[in-house]
Amino acid sequence: MSVHAEQKPWTVPALAEAKRQGRRLAMLTAYDASFARVMDRSGIDLVLIGDSLGMVVQGHDSTLPVSVADMVYHTAAVARTLRQALLVADLPFQADATPERALDASVALLQAGAQMVKIEGAGHKLEVVRFLSERDIPVCTHLGLTPQSVLKLGGFKVQGREEQAAARLLADAQAAVEAGASLLVLECVPTPLAQKITAAVFVPTIGIGAGPHCDGQVLVMHDMLGLDSGHRRPRFVKDFLAEGGSVAGAFRAYAAAVRDGSFPDAEHAYA
Ligand code: KIV
Repeated sequence: MSVHAEQKPWTVPALAEAKRQGRRLAMLTAYDASFARVMDRSGIDLVLIGDSLGMVVQGHDSTLPVSVADMVYHTAAVARTLRQALLVADLPFQADATPERALDASVALLQAGAQMVKIEGAGHKLEVVRFLSERDIPVCTHLGLTPQSVLKLGGFKVQGREEQAAARLLADAQAAVEAGASLLVLECVPTPLAQKITAAVFVPTIGIGAGPHCDGQVLVMHDMLGLDSGHRRPRFVKDFLAEGGSVAGAFRAYAAAVRDGSFPDAEHAYA
């Protein structure tokens, strides 16, 4: 029996309610039915079909080569197995370049079983967020280190360290929520800034390298299982397989550590 048999299937409105109640959210990436099934039965609240699949599944150096067809394929595989976790799927590189392109890609992802789409960045993407959410498509906005901007950023680097950049990130987060985003992912953001953003918005923030004060956490599954996918291991990654003893044990240990606030600690965050 599932350890979280009492958890009803997650819905989009239930996420904001969880924040109001102070219930932290555990999210992981998945790309196939078997791992997703174990996650779903191990207390993981949200499953992300990340375009990180370009790096950890397809072996590329970045997420840029991932197509909408790739995302639809993996989303459909994972969706077939989930009972409780809410399924979020990334809009891959430039699939959200215009509102119309984003709508077409989002419809394909929702028809494959996703319940929310994730969009990287603010700026002109805010119009896309508004366009989709006005058309009843739940949206997650991903801010901070946005891997699809790797060429412009010059690498995978912590964002929002300088005062001006921090103020812009806070304003972007508020604008994304105002445009209709139901969830925010904050990647590689200093802990105090992520805390400030979390306090400023009513929707949950999900951190990855953003410290312990977010409303939830996300990690790439391969990273938290300690697999060497050939890429540099970021500071915020913790190997939960070592402590969990099995794949299911690792997922349970991660969910428990997110919920009780013991992950991430200072060692896995940026000051
Ligand atoms: O693509 C992905 O896996 C992501 C997470 C790192 C948040 O966007």
